[in-house]
Amino acid sequence: MSNIDLPSPPASSAARSMAASISTSVRVNDSAVTVVHDCRMTLLDLLRDELTLTGTKKGCDHGQCGACTVLIDGQRVLSCLTLAATVAGRSVQTIEGIGDPDHPHPLQAAFIEHDAFQCGFCTPGQIMSAIALLGQRRPLTKEMIKEQMSGNLCRCGAYNNIVDAILKVAQNASVPIPSR
Ligand code: FES
Ligand code: FES
Repeated sequence: MSNIDLPSPPASSAARSMAASISTSVRVNDSAVTVVHDCRMTLLDLLRDELTLTGTKKGCDHGQCGACTVLIDGQRVLSCLTLAATVAGRSVQTIEGIGDPDHPHPLQAAFIEHDAFQCGFCTPGQIMSAIALLGQRRPLTKEMIKEQMSGNLCRCGAYNNIVDAILKVAQNASVPIPSR
């Protein structure tokens, strides 16, 4: 008779879910929140599924399209590649936190003025990415904007108008940038 190590029986689903849960406290759009969630959850899913902040879009879910871009402490990140647990104690800004229809952020107003979207799916990510770019407070040319925004894809091909909108706002020194 041979000695064979048999695999352990699988843990119960209750035990698995308890082991996988974690509590994360974070500031989102300047409000403190604490969420108990699966420790494997991405920031994108935490925002959309747990906090119902669905302005942040899930495009590729693989770090390829930029639709999920948000700010963490003022820096742009791909929320689909960020584990929610790693943002504990930090400040997250999403598209919902920068303006509303009555008080749009200058970039939102510029996107409308320059017709910088068609379906609008990529637009929240484009705007959050552009806010971080403007937050670098350096002179920008069209070519620099194209390069710096190259991680944000637009399937509708609104690129020229997106660049025009960002350039217009870049020329205004009083653009509000979320604090870190
Ligand atoms: Fe995150 Fe595409 S959904 S990069
Ligand atoms: Fe449709 Fe950019 S406006 S993907």
